[in-house]
Amino acid sequence: MPIAPMTNAVGIDLGTSTIKLTSGDKSYRIPSVIGTPNPGWQGMSSDKSWLNNLIIEDAKGQEVYIGELARLQSEIRKPLASEGKMKSIQNSLLALKAILSLIMKSSYEQFVVATGVPIATGVNESKELSRGLKGTHEIKVRNDATGEAKQMKILIEQVFIAPEPYGTYWHTLKTSGVQTAVDSIIVDVGHGTTDILCMYKGNMMRAASGSLEEAVDSLTSALSRAIQEKAGKIIRPFDLMTAIEQGKKNILVGGKALDITSAMDQAVTSIADVIVDESNRLLNNLPPDAWIEKVIVCGGGAYIFGDYLKQAFFEANIVKNTNEVLQPTDAVMSNALGFEQIALTKLKK
Ligand SMILES: Nc1ncnc2c1ncn2[C@@H]1O[C@H](COP(=O)(O)OP(=O)(O)OP(=O)(O)O)[C@@H](O)[C@H]1O
Ligand SMILES: [Mg+2]
Repeated sequence: MPIAPMTNAVGIDLGTSTIKLTSGDKSYRIPSVIGTPNPGWQGMSSDKSWLNNLIIEDAKGQEVYIGELARLQSEIRKPLASEGKMKSIQNSLLALKAILSLIMKSSYEQFVVATGVPIATGVNESKELSRGLKGTHEIKVRNDATGEAKQMKILIEQVFIAPEPYGTYWHTLKTSGVQTAVDSIIVDVGHGTTDILCMYKGNMMRAASGSLEEAVDSLTSALSRAIQEKAGKIIRPFDLMTAIEQGKKNILVGGKALDITSAMDQAVTSIADVIVDESNRLLNNLPPDAWIEKVIVCGGGAYIFGDYLKQAFFEANIVKNTNEVLQPTDAVMSNALGFEQIALTKLKK
């Protein structure tokens, strides 16, 4: 393989449920989980992509399953983050190296990496992650479906770490052509957590930022309980996710169609209210001269809660007009896209 002289700018969103990565025309999402190896019949799987069959060797030379492969096949799975913060830096590093291997076109490449971490992640953990990422790494990966192995070397020249929603803040400013930093609140409604970040005069305000457990996951749990009450059947929250993503109003329960419109409305309303209440509480910690001009709603939950949140932020008097509530075009990837743009600026320096 030829030696590529250029440096890649990479944006990452290291979330509690999924890791997202963007670099140029490449864009990946994998579950935030790693796991123990559990070898099976090789060549039987219909999906032979590297993304879904990713195995990496750790420092001790042991194989570790990454992302979707770990989620589906590992007996022991370790989430990379929980309770709104990163858990094991070493495991996160392994996962990041494995995904970086996916964008490599040759056996040696340089990177500038900007990554978002859950908002409750401490300064020490962020520093440790940065130290761990910077420098030269040998990467050995293997494709579980095909058995193909690759060995490569990377140099991570610079690392930038910030809370996840900062990526969307940056992305929104850049794509809307706004030059000056506007006081804003960014609400990232994810799968397991909602992260709230307040920006004041271009600064991230720690006391006015936080995370809560009300997110898409709470909606599926609430729906599952409602269905059990109404139909006496247990449907696991996880299995409701696809129906919700597709905006289905009727779902099949015990062979019969069940209209979930009212249960859904009720749950969406109460969860969105909790998010707005918490935002309001956090805003109390901003200096009195702060003036929120934009509320930016992102994360996969924006597709479900977005319209309701828009109205609720207006009614709570946090914005003066509903058109001050923005939603990025790609609300799921907007953090990673923003971090990639940040990495690009570091590259140019
Ligand atoms: N187009 C869509 N319509 C409805 N729901 C969606 C859509 N896309 C994603 N979701 C839901 O949003 C959630 C995932 O959003 P996102 O990727 O922002 O979460 P995450 O970043 O993995 O979670 P966390 O921030 O807690 O780590 C999933 O529960 C998914 O069901
Ligand atoms: Mg997220």
